Amino acid sequence: MFTSQPIGFVISPYKIAGEVPKGLGAKHDADGVLKILPEFEPGLTDIEGFSHLVIIWEFDRSHGFDLLGTPPSDNRPHGVFATRSPRRPNPIGLTTVELLRHEGIELHVRGVDMLDGTPILDIKPYLSSIPSEKLRRGWLAEAEARPK
Ligand SMILES: C[S@@+](CC[C@H](N)C(=O)[O-])C[C@H]1O[C@@H](n2cnc3c(N)ncnc32)[C@H](O)[C@@H]1O
Repeated sequence: MFTSQPIGFVISPYKIAGEVPKGLGAKHDADGVLKILPEFEPGLTDIEGFSHLVIIWEFDRSHGFDLLGTPPSDNRPHGVFATRSPRRPNPIGLTTVELLRHEGIELHVRGVDMLDGTPILDIKPYLSSIPSEKLRRGWLAEAEARPK
């Protein structure tokens, strides 16, 4: 297994976990900056052509894991691999953001849900090839359909 090293850090308006919108209908439209370490800057070449990016990052302020847990969007427990819980065996987060602009070592993005200072492990262009009619949303669709 490889040992990960950050390629940069997130500048986020969220300083503590309680500030990040959670639960059904939560909107993730906060602006943030992905500040890439100078030695990785050549890796950003041509990134501005993509509207959305997938950010792979570390839940650096989460410790331990639960194989079953009740997410904020439901009242029933689900397996960790059927949720996006920060408490997972390998604390890796995945967020799709909109790329607003690229300025040197900075990527200005919309849609961050990471805390300020979160280490970034990787960035990839978002390329969705799954037609929406083929997507199933599992227990989340049931939770969303339940009367409030
Ligand atoms: C439900 S997770 C989803 C994260 C990501 N979109 C994913 O799917 O992997 C989002 C929560 O992670 C927590 N979080 C954000 N940054 C974190 C960090 N650096 N360390 C630990 N927890 C973090 C916040 O409480 C936030 O509400």
